[in-house]
Amino acid sequence: MYYPEDIIRDVRERTDIVGLVSGYVSLQKKGSNYFGCCPFHNEKTPSFSVNTKEQFFYCFGCHKGGNVITFLMEMENLTFPEALKELADRAGVTLPEAELSPEEKRRIEARTRLYDMNREAARFFYYQLAKTPDGVRAREYLEQRGVTETYAKRFGLGYAPIGSASLYRYLSSKGYTTEEMEKARLITVRGNRVYDYFFNRLMFPIFNTAGQTIAFGGRVMGQGEPKYLNSPETEVFNKRRNLYAMQMAKKSRRKEALMVEGYMDVLSLHQAGFDNAVASLGTALTQEQALLIKRYYNDVVLIYDSDKAGTQAARRGIPILEQAGLKVRVLRVPGAKDPDEFLKQNPPEAFQELIDKAMNPIDFEMLVLEEENNTATVDGRVLTVNGMAERLAGIESDLERQIHIQDTAEKLKVDPALLAKKVEEIRRTTGLLERRQNRPRTEEQGPRTDARMQLLGVMMHRQDLIPLLRRHISIEDLKGPDGADDLYAQVADSLFRHQEEGVLVQKADLISLADQPEDQEKIARLVQMRLPDTQENLEKLLTETVRSVKRKALEEKLTRLTAEENATSEDLRTMQDIIYERKSLDTLRIRLRPEGGTVL
Ligand code: UTP
Ligand code: MN
Repeated sequence: MYYPEDIIRDVRERTDIVGLVSGYVSLQKKGSNYFGCCPFHNEKTPSFSVNTKEQFFYCFGCHKGGNVITFLMEMENLTFPEALKELADRAGVTLPEAELSPEEKRRIEARTRLYDMNREAARFFYYQLAKTPDGVRAREYLEQRGVTETYAKRFGLGYAPIGSASLYRYLSSKGYTTEEMEKARLITVRGNRVYDYFFNRLMFPIFNTAGQTIAFGGRVMGQGEPKYLNSPETEVFNKRRNLYAMQMAKKSRRKEALMVEGYMDVLSLHQAGFDNAVASLGTALTQEQALLIKRYYNDVVLIYDSDKAGTQAARRGIPILEQAGLKVRVLRVPGAKDPDEFLKQNPPEAFQELIDKAMNPIDFEMLVLEEENNTATVDGRVLTVNGMAERLAGIESDLERQIHIQDTAEKLKVDPALLAKKVEEIRRTTGLLERRQNRPRTEEQGPRTDARMQLLGVMMHRQDLIPLLRRHISIEDLKGPDGADDLYAQVADSLFRHQEEGVLVQKADLISLADQPEDQEKIARLVQMRLPDTQENLEKLLTETVRSVKRKALEEKLTRLTAEENATSEDLRTMQDIIYERKSLDTLRIRLRPEGGTVL
C-alpha cells in the first residue's frame, strides 16, 4: 500500500459503509448492525452483517469480511488503488498522485489502454458497417431484422470485415502492440501469424455501467456456427459481473428491469421504447448480475424464450434474482419465440400488457409443474402438490408463505392444512441441512492457532489490556509454526507499536495488513470475535490462551535446542530455564483490575 495510512483512513471514515453496501445488498437493521444475504456466496438466509460501529462487514457463512475499500474491490473487481480512488472521489477527498507504486501505476495504465483499445476497435467496426462497401451486407442484414439506423448507432453496432487481420492492422497503426491486442482477446496469434478474433460478423460492443467498452459479441449474418461469438474473459471483461445494455438501462425511468436472453431482444425492446431491457452475456444468470440489477431497480421481469431451455433458465434465474432482494415476476412470450419476434408481430402496447400481466414466481412454478406432470392423473397431481410444497418451503417470510400456501391449496384443490404441514416438514429438514453447511470451516485450526487467534482478538478489542498481556507474551510467541513471521504476528506487531505510541488502532484499518483474501478473512474473524461477557470469564480466557500459546512456543524452542548436535553449556542452561518457565505456567493466572482499572 503506497498511500499514507491517514489518507486511507480518511477515505474510509468518510464513506458510509451501510450506504455503500446497500448499493449491492438489501440490508435490514437488527440492533446496531445490519444484515442481508451475502453477495459473495449463495445463500437463502442472511448471514452477511455490516457492523456500523467498526465500519466493517463480515459474513458468518463464508467468513469474508473487510472494510469499505475491500468491499468495493471485491464487488467491482478493482485493484486497491482503484477502489480507494473511487471512494475518495465520492467522498471528495483528493488523493496524492505520486503515491502509487510503479507496479500499481503500470497496472492501471495497462487497463486504461485496454479500455481505450476496445473503444478504438468498436470505432473501427462501426466505420466498417457505416462507411465501407463491405459493410453493405451487414447494413442489409440489420435492415432485414428491422434495426433502425438510430438504434444501430445508439448501440454502437458494427461490422467485423472478412479480411483476416484488418482490425490488427488498424490497431497497430494506432500504436497498440500485438501483446496488448492478444490480452484484449481481439486477435489470436498462431505461430507467427495473427488473426482477428472476429471476422465477417455483425458486432455488438459490450459496455460496463461506466460506459467503457469491455468486450464484443459477434453474430453471423444468416446461417453459421456459432451463431454468436463472444469475447473471452479479459482483465476488463468479467461475464459474470456485467449485463448487456445495462449502461443504458440504468438510466431508464421505468419501474422494473426487463431481463431477456438475447442481444437482439434487447435491441428490439429498446427500439420499441423499453429502455429498461438487459441481457446476460451468453451465460446463465449470475448472482453478481442480479446484484447489478438491484443497484438500479427493485423489480425485475424475467422474460424467457417459450422453449424448454428458456423455461429451465427462468426457473434457475428466479432464486438468484430473489436472493439479491429483487421482486421478481416472470413473463412467457405467447405465440412467439422471443421478445424480438413478438415485437415484429405486435405493437409495443401489446408487450406492455404482457409486462403488466407477468406472473409471480409461485404461479409460474405451478404452471411449469402442471405442464410437466399430467394433472389429469392422481400421480401427476401428487407430483405437482409435492413440487409446490418444495417451492413454498423456500419462501422466507412467514406471512407470504402462509398466503401462498392458502392460495396454492385452493388452486390445486387440496386441504390447506395438509399442504402447510408438508411445507413445514420440508422447512425443518432443509433448515437443518443449511445450518450444517454453514458451520464454520475448521481449516488449520489446531488448538494453538485457536489460542493465538483468541488472544489477538482480545488484544484487538481491548487494546487497553495490551501492556498487561505483553508482560507474558512476545511477538516471538505469536509467530507461526517454525517461527514463521505470519499474519498473526504482524497484527500483534501493529497493535503493539500503536499501543506504544498511545494510538488506538481502528479495526477496519487492520485489514490493510492483509493483501490475500484468506488473510483478510482471518482478520475479519478477529474483528467479529465476541469477548466473554464477564470479567471473570475474560480472565479465564486470557489465562488459558496465554498458557497455551506460551507453552507451545516454549516447546518449540525446546525442540529446536534438543535437536542441536553439539549443545553448549549455555544451551543447556537455556533449556533448564525453559523447563522452569514451562512449569511455572501451571500456576499462571491473569487477573484484570476491577472494572476499567487497567491503564493504557
Ligand atoms: P438465441 O440463439 O436464443 O437467440 O441466443 P436467437 O433469438 O435465436 O438469435 P437471434 O435473435 O436470431 O439473433 C440468445 C443469446 O444467447 C447467446 C447470445 O447472447 C444471444 O443473444 N448466444 C447464443 C451465444 O452466446 N452464443 C450462441 O452461439 C448462441
Ligand atoms: Mn431472437
